Amino acid sequence: MSAYADSTALAEAALIMERCNDLAGLSSHPEKLERLHLSPEHRAANDVVATWMEEAGLSTWQDPAGNQCGRMEGREPGLPALLLGSHIDTVPDAGRYDGMLGVLLAIQTVSRIRASGIALPFALEVVAFSDEEGTRFGTALLGSRALAGTWNPDWWNLTDRDGITLAEAFQDFGLDPARLPGAFRRPENLVGYLEAHIEQGPYLEDADRRLAVVTSIAGARRFTLVMTGHAGHAGGTPYNRRRDALLGASELVIEVERISILHSVIGTVGRLQAFPGGVNVIPGRVEFSLDLRAEFDVDRDECLRLIFEAAENIAARRNLTCDATEIYRADATECDPLLQRAIAAGIQSTGDTEPLAMWSRAGHDGMAVADLTRIAMLFIRCRGGVSHHPDEHVKRSDVAAALDAFEAAVLAVAVTESGTVIV
Ligand code: HGY
Ligand code: MN
Ligand code: MN
Repeated sequence: MSAYADSTALAEAALIMERCNDLAGLSSHPEKLERLHLSPEHRAANDVVATWMEEAGLSTWQDPAGNQCGRMEGREPGLPALLLGSHIDTVPDAGRYDGMLGVLLAIQTVSRIRASGIALPFALEVVAFSDEEGTRFGTALLGSRALAGTWNPDWWNLTDRDGITLAEAFQDFGLDPARLPGAFRRPENLVGYLEAHIEQGPYLEDADRRLAVVTSIAGARRFTLVMTGHAGHAGGTPYNRRRDALLGASELVIEVERISILHSVIGTVGRLQAFPGGVNVIPGRVEFSLDLRAEFDVDRDECLRLIFEAAENIAARRNLTCDATEIYRADATECDPLLQRAIAAGIQSTGDTEPLAMWSRAGHDGMAVADLTRIAMLFIRCRGGVSHHPDEHVKRSDVAAALDAFEAAVLAVAVTESGTVIV
């Protein structure tokens, strides 16, 4: 597909990408991007996003969960809002477009509609969610789950790698956990939620398309697994007396891949640590992660059952034990058909007459927001499908097309809203 050449949109896309670069500078590491939930970098990011929101004509506030929010009234004050947004936290050593691009496209879309003078039949709100990745406390979607009112009080006791609890992190950030319910939104005050996000996979690039409509978001479950054996001397312990936890964990990691592929599930072990960690000590304990996701929850859960079965067999054969603790679960989420049609109309307005539709292998805040209101997503091609890596990259012309498509999608929702009652 040829480069998108609308000059106005290209200039706005350049501004959006410049702002992604600005946000990439707000990191806890000087040489790589990591911005954690409720960190000083998160505070700095909220402040600069609030400035950009105000320049776009939004009135701004930070909600009791640390989400940075902005609102522009519709044709009369106090109307239900169409929510636009994404997240501004990152994974370790992240790319600069995952989440941030969606927040900035949303802000620029509001800026355009305000400048056009169009009086919408709903308010527009933009939200920069505080914690989609779950990097700091393990469980994810904390910002969007607060907004959706699906908060689990057990989460207050979650701790980060320094032993700080989520409750303490709230207080350090200047938030009062007791006031969290103030972040819970009511369904009658919302028309729906639209999110623009990089695809984080190669399908758009392979199909030579800039944009796609998301049909559903993969359901995910995350676990911490602990394989336990017995530490011992790397020289003096004969093989037949070893209870090597790392060999057991390694076998299971290979099984995760084999079983997942067999069941069209995406299984990943992203983190693994052997203890006590001496080069001349047989590992007595291994802690590792398991991230499982699939288009259909039934496939994910069957795959999980088989992985646990494999864990039991490996542990029995190697005289080990294996324990699993679930740290996160978000079931597969359908995108609303009406809002999908609005996203498709937006894509068609960029000249792509037969918009591609696909399910998202990546998780998104929409999985939490869907408990509150209807959701839909616009996917944007990213180079090589690379994400969760500093090489994450988008073309300026694709960002320009996404901006035009996102604005047109909002206007398409407005037509539906004013034409027929959408709620
Ligand atoms: O893990 C995910 O799919 C998302 O990037 N948090
Ligand atoms: Mn991500
Ligand atoms: Mn993301």
